Amino acid sequence: MPGINPPDRYTGVAIALHWIVAVLIVANVVLGLVADDIPDSYVRAVIDLHKSFGITVLGLVLLRILWRLAHRPPPLPASYSRLEQVASHGVHGLLYLVILALPISGWMHDSAWKGAASHPMSLYGLVPWPRIGWIESIEPVQKEHLHDIFFAAHAAAAYALYALLALHIIGALKHQFWDREPELQRMLPGG
Ligand code: HEM
Repeated sequence: MPGINPPDRYTGVAIALHWIVAVLIVANVVLGLVADDIPDSYVRAVIDLHKSFGITVLGLVLLRILWRLAHRPPPLPASYSRLEQVASHGVHGLLYLVILALPISGWMHDSAWKGAASHPMSLYGLVPWPRIGWIESIEPVQKEHLHDIFFAAHAAAAYALYALLALHIIGALKHQFWDREPELQRMLPGG
């Protein structure tokens, strides 16, 4: 594969944040989906880990957005057609939106849970983490209804994530192997 120069690569921090967030998101999709099908004795621990990963993703994505604002990403390769440029920017923008929507909707869903008061949230069993106060204080019947609505939003965001991830990965592989551009090298550690 041809080499690639620093101006065409993301910064080390952007690369680290990209891959840490990617791993945590994939792990969280798995944890969220298996939570319904595992023995009861594991369910609480799995959902608690899911929440911890999710809040971590929220923090890292906010950091990533701030980093991106301060460090312009490398320009898209000149070989991209106009359509590919628009699609690439569109998918990246929507991915940021969905990756923010997932933990926020999950946190809202969890804050509307009737068992919230008797099961305080804690990141990795180490750091106490608050629920969203205005949601917790809604009266119980309406809160139960919102609990369902927020879960529907959380699950819908997950479906949007699957579609966007598929486009993102297909696009990257197409440029790398079909067009033979050093696409992955832009976002891989090591240069
Ligand atoms: C990267 C962030 C996140 C991702 C990718 C994610 C993904 C998912 C997925 C795929 C599901 C299963 C949906 C379904 O059954 O159709 C789920 C369920 C759930 N999520 Fe998340 N989630 C994230 C963050 C959060 C956060 C921050 C919280 C709470 C603080 C949370 C709370 C929950 C809960 C309570 C469930 C229901 C689990 C069950 O009872 O089966 N999620 N999540």
